[in-house]
Amino acid sequence: MSSKTTKIGEPVLAELPRHVAIIMDGNGRWAKKRLLNRVKGHEKGAETVRRIVRTCRELNIPVLTLYAFSTENWQRPATEVKALMALLKKFLIEEELELKQNNIRLNIIGQFQRLPEDVRKTIERVKSSTASNDGLLLNLALSYGGRTEITEMVQTVAAKAASGQLNPATIDEALISDHLYTRGMPDPDIMIRTSGEMRISNFLLWQLAYAEIFVTPTLWPDFTPEEFISILKSFQQRDRRFGKVDS
Ligand code: FPP
Repeated sequence: MSSKTTKIGEPVLAELPRHVAIIMDGNGRWAKKRLLNRVKGHEKGAETVRRIVRTCRELNIPVLTLYAFSTENWQRPATEVKALMALLKKFLIEEELELKQNNIRLNIIGQFQRLPEDVRKTIERVKSSTASNDGLLLNLALSYGGRTEITEMVQTVAAKAASGQLNPATIDEALISDHLYTRGMPDPDIMIRTSGEMRISNFLLWQLAYAEIFVTPTLWPDFTPEEFISILKSFQQRDRRFGKVDS
């Protein structure tokens, strides 16, 4: 391991993941344990988002994808959906300068058109003001569902085949990856889920094929940069064979 240290004093990690994906779960339980409204848990969760984004930037991780709102989450009570959308907008407004100054580029994956207009406008503004940044790519998965993403990809590829733009015999894994929301990005090396559930909940179904999965019982509002770094260290100890045998 290198003796260099990052800005937060941690040793530079030997083999960094190129892409970290996180299912941020447990905000509701965090609030319930304290007899608070669920929205308080999301507010506290937004603070964890800030800290983990900062840590990824300091460690020079190229891509971070956060599952902030799933296609299924639209079925939550309207008050909670509204509060989550307002929180997201507030987060983007408050973080815009920090993202700009720290070379972080914002990107959204998911059904962008389903988001409320004011949220879309804020996203468009922050996306364009960070578009030329080439440090950390922050992907927020919003109104995201892996099956929807795959369905949309099939529709696009099928339409191209039907119009003669594409020969079906040339469809391969690279072409499919190129038609997903994550086109041009490496697949996640690590998927972290907080709050202990052993599920992937319709998250990045294609892209997680070879990701190393880490489930921690910690609820998202309590998840710290220290625990995140300890997961990165465990990742470095894992033997990734991608279906092959050791040489
Ligand atoms: C899951 O916890 C979390 C969500 C559905 C929303 C995630 C949102 C945030 C972390 C805050 C806002 C996001 C950003 C990017 C600023 P849950 O409500 O399902 O928790 P539970 O399983 O304990 O009920």
